[in-house]
Amino acid sequence: MPEIRQNEKISHRIEGPFFIIQLINPDNLNALEGEDYIYLGELLELADKNPDVYFTILQSSGRFFSSGADFKGIAKAQEDNGAKYASETSKWLSNFVARNVYVTDVFIKHSKVLVCCLNGPAIGLSAALVALCDIVYSMNDKVYLLYPFANLGLVTEGGTAISLPLKFGANTTYERLMFNKPFNYDIMTKSAFISKNFNMPSSNTEAFNAELLKELKGKVEGLYLPSCLGMKKLLKSNHIGSFNEINSMEVNESLKYWVDGEPLRRFSQLGSKQRKHRL
Ligand code: CAA
Repeated sequence: MPEIRQNEKISHRIEGPFFIIQLINPDNLNALEGEDYIYLGELLELADKNPDVYFTILQSSGRFFSSGADFKGIAKAQEDNGAKYASETSKWLSNFVARNVYVTDVFIKHSKVLVCCLNGPAIGLSAALVALCDIVYSMNDKVYLLYPFANLGLVTEGGTAISLPLKFGANTTYERLMFNKPFNYDIMTKSAFISKNFNMPSSNTEAFNAELLKELKGKVEGLYLPSCLGMKKLLKSNHIGSFNEINSMEVNESLKYWVDGEPLRRFSQLGSKQRKHRL
């Protein structure tokens, strides 16, 4: 495997045709800073380039899949007043637009089959990445996806302006996004977003990951795996143009909000527990 720097919050390994990426920072619910999202993108690119890999598996640890952007990382970005930035626009182009557009793009164009092992809730950009996966399995019915953009002074990101209506229907998406409500297990099963619920206790993410991987190994036995990649390419071709377009539109729309500062005020309230998401 080509060399890549290490990241203490994300591990990776290869087992047969599976490139397995795991979020391993359960203490802060697998929240990710900008650099971590970039690292995740780089890992996907590694998987993409490896001719022996056919499936990219996203696993997590602990009780949450990922609580999204790390508010400590956002605070660091806010304080990043180095002389290198000529303006607030310049600062947020670097600290938000470039990172966000990169990781979203890597997920959109990924050529291997993306499988998400959803062990618990996912929030924000991480939940957007879950919605870009091709197959999602859940550990139990406690999972949900929350896109708290209205509560944080943001707009859709990570391709969600397309992925959510596509996967959950337009009106459900409007209702959940406008009123900052989670896409809960019932919505996810009604829309066949989740392919199988493993019905395992929330305390047992490692067992869920192991059981799911074992099942996947059984499922791929005897398959001609290049056919899977060929089909992924064709299925992806249905929407790739729209995803590319929305990726650029979303970050450019969001940029105004970051420059204006409302998300920073709200993230800071979240960090000091003065603001909560309604779940
Ligand atoms: N960043 C940093 N730390 C986080 C975190 C985050 N996003 N989410 C949780 N944590 C930390 C908490 O601070 C807490 O740490 P301490 O034990 O040191 O206090 C620990 O994880 C456990 O969290 P809670 O005690 O809050 O657990 P809970 O079960 O009561 O609540 C939660 C869980 C609803 C996810 C709540 O933690 C929460 O609302 N977190 C923020 C989620 C969020 O809004 N993320 C950003 C989404 S926006 C985005 O991702 C887009 C973007 O690009 C900006």
